[in-house]
Amino acid sequence: MLQVLRRHWPPVVIMIAVAAVVARDVFRSETKTVNPVLINDSLQWKLPSLAALGDDSAASLIRYGRELIVHTADYLGPAGNVAHLSNGMNCQNCHLDAGTRAWGNALVAAAATYPVYRPRSGRIETLSFRINDCMQRSLNGAPLDSNSREMEAMLAYLRWLGQAIAPHQKPTGVGLASLPFLERAADSARGRLVYNGQCARCHGAGGEGQPAPGNNGYAYPPLWGPHSFNTGAGLYRISRMAAFVKFNMPFAQSTHDAPVLSDEEAWDVAAFINSRSRPDKDWSLDWPKISEKAFDYPIGPFNDSYPAAQHKYGPFTKMQHPAAHK
Ligand code: HEC
Ligand code: HEC
Repeated sequence: MLQVLRRHWPPVVIMIAVAAVVARDVFRSETKTVNPVLINDSLQWKLPSLAALGDDSAASLIRYGRELIVHTADYLGPAGNVAHLSNGMNCQNCHLDAGTRAWGNALVAAAATYPVYRPRSGRIETLSFRINDCMQRSLNGAPLDSNSREMEAMLAYLRWLGQAIAPHQKPTGVGLASLPFLERAADSARGRLVYNGQCARCHGAGGEGQPAPGNNGYAYPPLWGPHSFNTGAGLYRISRMAAFVKFNMPFAQSTHDAPVLSDEEAWDVAAFINSRSRPDKDWSLDWPKISEKAFDYPIGPFNDSYPAAQHKYGPFTKMQHPAAHK
């Protein structure tokens, strides 16, 4: 052993040093979630201009990435012309205006956020891992090959979109809002009335949506049923659904400054939508540390004694725990 060390000490020492650094970094990032810094000048997002994009190959990759987010089904849907990986919805159905609308599940800070530790997977996720999460859950499909031109293009678009945002900064209005909790459980029977009055004319009486004429996507995307997002998707959490609906629906009417629904109506209609049937996926490997499980992820096991129905519909006021909003 001594002889081996004497003869090979430089590489051995280097190996030990590298192992120590890797172990330190892995340990650090696994034990500490990076909290994004909220910037308040938010709505002044300095979005880069599409018109100013050049014509070189980098620019055409960015344009293709945007196109994939807007017209996902044309390329990757059941009749897609590149591959058949997703359910016919478009990314833009949930990330409004190609991911640029404030409070509309904007993707503006995605490139600044990842890689990051996420409790759902219990690991450090890259941006392509996160995109594939939406492919497999929100689009109820299969992941893109991480070396594919399509993944490269979406990454290029998101990096271009977020170029003005420093790592781990998060302008307000990015992603989804958090609505105040109700003191009671959200009520799907009341939600059905909201749905029939405010939503069914576009999304259909049975939540099935309406296909776009002559196109692979939807004019109005499905909210439940076999062609909708599955039980592993973010919108299957009632707080995410209620926040999306509150500030964005009815489409073209509701805005952050002038929402149409009250908070109660938003929670109740979210309860109604998420009480309907949708594709089921086995996500039993999600939330490997149950102490980090989101309060409104409705599938057990739980780190507390509240029943599954309460994790699904509330009331949440008393059951909030530290990882609640992750
Ligand atoms: C059915 C709705 C839905 C669809 C369709 C959808 N997503 Fe998402 N996506 C979400 C929700 C909900 C979140 C989490 C938002 C939150 O909790 O703040 C999310 C989060 C993300 C994030 C992380 C954003 C961040 O800043 O942390 C990325 C990146 C993303 N989606 C990309 C995509 C891409 C690319 C597609 C299309 C291939 C897509 N999504 C389709 C609903 C959807
Ligand atoms: C005027 C038609 C219209 C009305 C009314 C409307 N929506 Fe939408 N909704 C849309 C459109 C269009 C999209 C997709 C946006 C896009 O692709 O740019 C959408 C997207 C959604 C999504 C995300 C995509 C999905 O399929 O899961 C949800 C959730 C949603 N609407 C819920 C509601 C709820 C709840 C109501 C009633 C409070 C409602 N909508 C009323 C047109 C409408």
